[in-house]
Amino acid sequence: MAIMLKSRQEIEKMRRSGQAVRQILDMLRSLVKPGVTTMDLEVAAARMIEEMGAVPAFKGYHGYPCVLCTSVNSEVVHGIPSRSRVLREGDIVSVDCGVLLDGYFGDSAVTFAVGERVQNKARKLLEVTEASLEKAIQEVKVGATLGDIGAAVQQHVEAVGFNVVRDFVGHGIGREMHEEPQIPNYGQRGRGTVLKAGMVLAIEPMVNTGAADVKVLEDGWTAVTVDGSLSAHFEHTVAVTEDGPQVLTR
Ligand code: MF3
Ligand code: CO
Repeated sequence: MAIMLKSRQEIEKMRRSGQAVRQILDMLRSLVKPGVTTMDLEVAAARMIEEMGAVPAFKGYHGYPCVLCTSVNSEVVHGIPSRSRVLREGDIVSVDCGVLLDGYFGDSAVTFAVGERVQNKARKLLEVTEASLEKAIQEVKVGATLGDIGAAVQQHVEAVGFNVVRDFVGHGIGREMHEEPQIPNYGQRGRGTVLKAGMVLAIEPMVNTGAADVKVLEDGWTAVTVDGSLSAHFEHTVAVTEDGPQVLTR
């Protein structure tokens, strides 16, 4: 499959999907506190998606059971919400949400600190990972390359001694949740696919305080760091336009 370019009208539709995801993540931000379970987040998100008349993008995707991915501490991505997973003071939790609205997908993720007493290293991890996504977004312009995006993330992350996960990548998005191209969070400037107006990209750096290596648990989904180090994940859906990047999930 080729890269599917979107018209201005399609990008406006995708902005609605993106804004739906934004509103859900904003609602979840206010719920995240010690004592809340990851299933509480799931239930609230599922209800809101339904009220919006949207369809959850993840539930049923290759058999995935929930509308959110909730990944705590050393969990990298694809953590499955659970009634027994209680968020504790000092945890970090990555919440990933995707919806389908009026034929188009939106996809975004954010990592929250739980409570007020989060260790400095975790705080730094959230800051650096989110900033690496912003660096990537700044590279999004017609004529730039996917290597420019990956290099921007990698450089920002490695400068502070953290590491970029390589086993998962970002992706094109549109009428399908996962479209071409794949978007690695590492790379070399000037290399790779050249960006064109109308591409829409889900850029999603995953960053570990320790080594980059990850493994998938017995549940077949939850990816964790092999060394037990902390991991964070931020994601935005971004349109490439002649006027530069448009972050549809902002
Ligand atoms: N944001 C993730 C992605 O783009 C979420 C997919 S979770 C899944 O791949 F359950 F749907 F696979
Ligand atoms: Co994604």
